[in-house]
Amino acid sequence: MKLFRTKPILGHGESGSGLKKVLGPVDLVMLGIGAIIGAGIFVLTGIAAANHAGPAVVLSFVVAGLVVSFAALSYAELASAIGGAGSAYSYGYHGLGEIVAWIIGWMLILEYTVAISAVSVGWSGYVHNALAAMGVGLPELLTKTPVEGGLVNLPALAIILALGVLLASGAKVSAQFNAIMVFVKVAAILLFIAVAAFNVDPQNWVPFIPERGPNPLGDVSYGWQGIMAAAASIFFAYIGFDAVSTAAEETRNPKRDLPIGILGSLVACTILYMLVALLLTGVVPYKQLNVPSPVSYALLEVGARWASGMIAVGAIAGLTTVMLVLYFALTRILFAISRDGLLPPFFSHINEKTGSPVRVIVLSGLIMASIAGFAPLHDIVELTNIGTLGAFMVVCAGVAVLRITRPELERPFRTPFSPFIPVLGIIGCFYLILNLSEHTWVRFGMWMAAGIIIYFAYSYRHSRLHGGGDNGTPARAPLE
Ligand code: ALA
Repeated sequence: MKLFRTKPILGHGESGSGLKKVLGPVDLVMLGIGAIIGAGIFVLTGIAAANHAGPAVVLSFVVAGLVVSFAALSYAELASAIGGAGSAYSYGYHGLGEIVAWIIGWMLILEYTVAISAVSVGWSGYVHNALAAMGVGLPELLTKTPVEGGLVNLPALAIILALGVLLASGAKVSAQFNAIMVFVKVAAILLFIAVAAFNVDPQNWVPFIPERGPNPLGDVSYGWQGIMAAAASIFFAYIGFDAVSTAAEETRNPKRDLPIGILGSLVACTILYMLVALLLTGVVPYKQLNVPSPVSYALLEVGARWASGMIAVGAIAGLTTVMLVLYFALTRILFAISRDGLLPPFFSHINEKTGSPVRVIVLSGLIMASIAGFAPLHDIVELTNIGTLGAFMVVCAGVAVLRITRPELERPFRTPFSPFIPVLGIIGCFYLILNLSEHTWVRFGMWMAAGIIIYFAYSYRHSRLHGGGDNGTPARAPLE
């Protein structure tokens, strides 16, 4: 079946990328934390607590963390078995067939595009607050989208364009820079934990799970369903662990270190997230947390002005690295899809001067800046989650399917209790998707329908595996 044509699996360590195997378990944990901690904890925790879960938002972090860990274990297996610096799109193409790869790739494009836009809105909230604290606040018209009563979210729009310029000029984020940023982020979170711990009013935790009823958004939430809705929303906070799996080829001992890196960063982030969520709702009444920068807001409320300022700096640094890494990853995915012929060669054009895919950086930057500048955060975020959850489901399915179709494949890391863990991952992701709003399902359905149309109208015939080669690259025969 041509729709399911696959690319050959070269095997771990044989892809000839020439990448040096220099990373150890600590590097991988740092990489994971660097890509994970961002708008999820610094922005969405407050919104999720105020509108969905109340103080029980801490339980939402446990639920989302569990689902993510099942997907992460599956990711680790495919990353170590199939290798390559590509992400789920490449695993899909090697293992499951072209149309599945296209579907994963199309979901990943949605995930990254929307995630970067959403993080930039969080970044804008923190920058606006920091500027206001210094007495140079921006007018509301320039910090809010039209839906929120403003004109444009200018800082959000500007940071994406600035990062685009940085990426286009060939900048790369070194492990050292990442480590410094991780240090700043984690220091900010630890500072919050230390200060907040002495300012808790236990009355704020009562009731821990508020009864179902109206929330500040005017919807009905809280109760067990509210915890699940919050879990589906703060799932966003865990996105980024897959960055660890893209370092598979650069890891000295992937069999041992990949699971440590993926699960270690997840465990560390989950613990930090739970502590922050617990303290945040202990310091201020949850209904007040419906603000764009809840972590520094909470400390301002208890009069710790200096700590609030330092946390804002940590959050701004952290959100910047998340955006940079995700933006880089987005351009890599578009590049990889285009190189395979499924998107026009425009997307894999490399600028000779800078050695970077300038065209795709500029185009995706303009699209994301427009979303960030003019669309409201809440609508944006859920699309990221559904795209990621969809991709995770296919990755989990990939583990189970490949165990049957390619039992001989060398798997340096094996997902334990397969197929139970992958199946639990699929069920967990599907359950979280069910807890997203209907608006999100409809928009996601429209996005996927557009993807399928593009596949049959263009990608199928222009694929390098199709033998046409009219995308300017030599045709390659399908091996399976
Ligand atoms: N996990 C990343 C964040 O929370 C995407 O910003």
